Amino acid sequence: MAFEALIGGIAERGYAVVPGAAPRPLVRALRERAREVHALGGFTQARVGRAEGRAQRQDIRGDRIAWLDPSAPAPAEASLFAWLEQLRTACNRGLMLGLAEIEAHYAIYPPGASYARHRDRFRDDDARVLSCVLYLNENWRAEDGGALQLFPPDAAPLTVHPQGGTLVAFLSADFDHEVLPAKRERMALTGWYRRRALPAC
Ligand code: OGA
Ligand code: MN
Repeated sequence: MAFEALIGGIAERGYAVVPGAAPRPLVRALRERAREVHALGGFTQARVGRAEGRAQRQDIRGDRIAWLDPSAPAPAEASLFAWLEQLRTACNRGLMLGLAEIEAHYAIYPPGASYARHRDRFRDDDARVLSCVLYLNENWRAEDGGALQLFPPDAAPLTVHPQGGTLVAFLSADFDHEVLPAKRERMALTGWYRRRALPAC
């Protein structure tokens, strides 16, 4: 069901927002796992740019992140990867996107942190095809802030509240987006499906 809504939206407009997309127990387990990784010191300040251009710019991006290791997943992460694999094959079947692999990180925005308007592709690397964000927050209210603003190229901007279980997916190449500052801690799991990198020639 959730995958059908997602695929329909991406086919029609290039993006989809699906509340309640992920099973609640999975969302809860991922939230607890993110807290555990955080308590173990596994998060680092996110950076912007790539390679030598990488820099810490909290005015641009204030979240802290922890990459998931697909070769040593915690139980919640193993369930997540199984779910993401179903989503990958459904997208490839329904949208012919040729998605080959996924990279994913947890993100925690402390109160006041934001992420300025950007796209998810790097100038020198166009392997990211589909961006997915699964929110992990309990009982998010509009007044908590922290909305995702998505800017379709030829339609009005869209506001998405980061309520736990909501999944947002959009074509990485086409959509500017931004995270507005939140008044409370904001947690998400962000993943990018990549096409297989072409061998360098
Ligand atoms: C990102 C991003 C959006 C969100 O991590 O690149 O844009 O709503 N996240 O967390
Ligand atoms: Mn982004």
